[in-house]
Amino acid sequence: MIRKVKGTRDILPPASRLWVEVEAVAHRVFSGFGYEEIRLPLLEPTELFVRSVGEDTDIVGKEMYTFADRKGRSLTLRPEGTAGVARAFIENGLGQRPQPLRLSYMGPMFRYEKMQRGRYRQFSQIGIEILGAATPLADVEVIAALHSFLASLGFDDLVIVLNNLGDPEDRQRFIDVLKIELAPHRDELCSDCRRRWDTNPLRILDCKVPRCRELIVETTPVAEVVSDEARRHVDEVEVGLASLDMPVRRAPRLVRGLDYYLRTVFEVISPQLGEDTVICGGGRYDRLISDLGGARVPGTGFAIGEDRLVEVLPEAFRRRVLERPVVAVLPLGAEAAATGLGLTRSLADRGISAPTEVTGRSLKAGLKWAGKIGARAAVIVGESELADGEVIIRDLDRGEQERVKLPQVPEYVTRLVDSDGQS
Ligand code: HAM
Repeated sequence: MIRKVKGTRDILPPASRLWVEVEAVAHRVFSGFGYEEIRLPLLEPTELFVRSVGEDTDIVGKEMYTFADRKGRSLTLRPEGTAGVARAFIENGLGQRPQPLRLSYMGPMFRYEKMQRGRYRQFSQIGIEILGAATPLADVEVIAALHSFLASLGFDDLVIVLNNLGDPEDRQRFIDVLKIELAPHRDELCSDCRRRWDTNPLRILDCKVPRCRELIVETTPVAEVVSDEARRHVDEVEVGLASLDMPVRRAPRLVRGLDYYLRTVFEVISPQLGEDTVICGGGRYDRLISDLGGARVPGTGFAIGEDRLVEVLPEAFRRRVLERPVVAVLPLGAEAAATGLGLTRSLADRGISAPTEVTGRSLKAGLKWAGKIGARAAVIVGESELADGEVIIRDLDRGEQERVKLPQVPEYVTRLVDSDGQS
């Protein structure tokens, strides 16, 4: 037997309905804020991520699915979406369009991560990016859109944590301070951090090794070292967010695992899943497009981990989606089959799932099948009723049945199904 690759998942029905519905809500909410979908390749030149996410990040250093294609070019399965958006912005001259440009995306990302709860090697993100707006208001907008989306799914307990990384110039000052403070303990740092000391000291703050963590909490937070302008920016974001009822908490040591961020960074955590299960991460990246060779175009956005989101969906949303009513159409005989499929079609037009029995089962076996698929009712299309232009609709919950004229079937079934929703 061939098995799936470790860290990938088969998302089977009916659980897949949750994904479809979550994505539908995302499209609806984000398009309401003016975001349009951009569909990008899963494969990109490796260099794109090295230059954007950063050479000494965990993602680029140890987690990328990188390989040489048949001509020896180094390609990578995208580990995240922002770098591809920036590349596409430059390559397609999207700076020519009315600014700011609001883009959304969803789809699989790939990271070779250690296996643990809520973490996969192929996972899906839903993200939005706004390009061409440097204002704090743009940060507030993306978080407001995020908040609307999560509220539409019924979340009310998620916490947003916010930090200020300052500008790249502040970063050097911060690194100097960090190194002075950590210098007496340099030998106690893990081997990765001793390497990061020279290559990318900011990443030391990301280290999960307990001793490193102990040393890090003693250091000055980056937000205390930033310029007045950067401080004002994130303070204004915080004020803007205060007008939303999304609980915001400052997290002075939040740095995020990607190098392109500056000023605003944020994450959304689920108290239910624990502090380290981050459902969503985002922030501002005003130098990314210029670092990749484009114009000086600021950007800000976020990506939600869809796998984790689906795992913690509020019960009411989950129930509404999973308990979607089904009606079984049971045609008896060849002549009835066409009528049966016709009924399926008109019920489907009303948003009711009404599969037709197509294997030629007897009425008894057909009703058994209807029970197994959880059908609320069975529409029995028998030859003799059909001769009178009627079918039998059996209410499988109550065990009652009635003859209904063919043109009235969609109306009748809709009423039956709706009456459940109201009770
Ligand atoms: P990120 O924090 O690396 O940010 O990923 C965003 C979200 O993707 C995480 O919060 C998490 O929920 C989910 N995620 C990441 N890795 C995994 C995994 N192995 N398994 C399951 N879920 C995972 C970014 O990717 C940035 N591009 C976000 C962004 C957009 N910043 C600005 N714009």
